[in-house]
Amino acid sequence: MAKSKRTIRYFKVAMLFHWSMAILIILNILGGLLKHYEILDLPIVIELHTRTGIIILTLAILRIFWRLTHKYPSLTNIIPNSEKILAYFSHLLLYILMIAVPVSGMLFFQSIGEKVYFLQIELPQFIIKQSTAEAKKILNIHQSLALIFLTLIVYHILAALKHHFIDKNHVLTRMLPKWIYRK
Ligand code: HEM
Ligand code: HEM
Repeated sequence: MAKSKRTIRYFKVAMLFHWSMAILIILNILGGLLKHYEILDLPIVIELHTRTGIIILTLAILRIFWRLTHKYPSLTNIIPNSEKILAYFSHLLLYILMIAVPVSGMLFFQSIGEKVYFLQIELPQFIIKQSTAEAKKILNIHQSLALIFLTLIVYHILAALKHHFIDKNHVLTRMLPKWIYRK
C-alpha cells in the first residue's frame, strides 16, 4: 500500500502554544543566566524575567488544558516504539517543568518580600517573607529545576534535528505551519 506523503500536522493552536512558549522560555533562561553570571546585572533584567516567567506559567496552564482536551497526531509508523516512549516521557517532563520552574521562581521572589505580577495584576502572596537562609534554599530549587529544564530542552532540540536531518521523517515538519513547510 502506497504511503501518503502528506504530513499530518499538529493543530494550529498547538503550534502557536509550542513556538510562542519556546521563544519566551529560551529568552527567560537567557535572562536568568545574564543575571547569574552578572553579565547584565540590571533591575530591568529581573523585572522582565519575573513578569515573562508568570506569562509562561499562565500559558503552560492553558496549554496543558488544551492538550488534555484535544486529540494530538500519533507517532505510530513514524518512529520506533522505544523512541516513542522516550518522546512521551521527555514531553511529560517538559510539561511538568513548564509549571515547576516558574512556580519555584515565584515562591523565591515572594520569599524575599517582592511582589509578583501577571501583567498589571498583583498575585496573592503564596509564601510569607523568609529568612535569608530559607530563601536561599528556595532559590537553589529554582536554579536546579531551571538547569534540568535547560538540559532537557537541549536534548529535545537535538532529537528534533536528528529526526529531520538523519532519520528524515515527519517529526519536525508536523510541528511546522504550512507556510514554512508545504508537504
Ligand atoms: C519558565 C520560566 C522560568 C525560567 C526558565 C527561569 C530560569 C531561571 C534561570 C536559568 C535563572 C538563573 C539561575 C541561576 O542563578 O543559576 C533564574 C533566576 C531567577 N529567577 Fe527564574 N525562571 C523562570 C521563571 C521565574 C519566575 C516566574 C520568577 C519570579 C516571579 C523567577 C525569578 C527568578 C529570580 C529572582 C532569579 C534571580 C535569582 C538571583 O538573584 O540570582 N523566575 N531563573
Ligand atoms: C524551548 C523550549 C521548548 C519546549 C519547552 C518544548 C516543549 C515541547 C513539548 C512539551 C512538546 C510535546 C507536544 C505534545 O505532543 O504535547 C514538543 C513537541 C515538539 N517540539 Fe518542542 N519545545 C521547545 C522547543 C523546541 C524547538 C526549538 C524545537 C525545534 C528544533 C522543537 C521541536 C519540537 C517538535 C518537532 C515537536 C513535535 C514532536 C512530535 O511530532 O511529536 N521544540 N515540544
